[in-house]
Amino acid sequence: MDHRISKHGKDILKSKNYNKMHGYIQHGSVSVFRHCVRVAETSLKIERFLKKRFNVKMDERALVRGALLHDYFLYDWHNKKDRPKGLHGFTHPGTALKNAIRDYAVSEREKKIIRQHMFPLTITKIPTCKEAWVVNIADKWCSLAETAKMRKKRH
Ligand SMILES: [Fe+2]
Ligand SMILES: [Fe+2]
Repeated sequence: MDHRISKHGKDILKSKNYNKMHGYIQHGSVSVFRHCVRVAETSLKIERFLKKRFNVKMDERALVRGALLHDYFLYDWHNKKDRPKGLHGFTHPGTALKNAIRDYAVSEREKKIIRQHMFPLTITKIPTCKEAWVVNIADKWCSLAETAKMRKKRH
């Protein structure tokens, strides 16, 4: 794990509620916990690339914490009975945000990252900062990779 993840997200990674996500599956055999850590790692890779190549500066702490909390919805989304009403794809950023605010100190930028990570599915929640764009793209990249791996295993 990138040391910057534990540097900025230690309180989150150590908390009891966050560790519940080991028990929830995101795609295939990847837990929501591992998915979020991978999205944080991928976001940091993109951040490093943009910094080196184009001297783009980002809020590293918000990037890590926003990525770690972007899917902090805390239920099994495959189980209809267990989750809030409505389509998971549309509702879970709001649920994750509510849980994150309840459990941790969340900055305004971190809130944007969580709220806007499902754009363009949530068409009105267009990313409004660089960090939100990076997590949005990292999440799509990781989700595709996880789903592709699951398909491969099945065949
Ligand atoms: Fe998500
Ligand atoms: Fe995600």
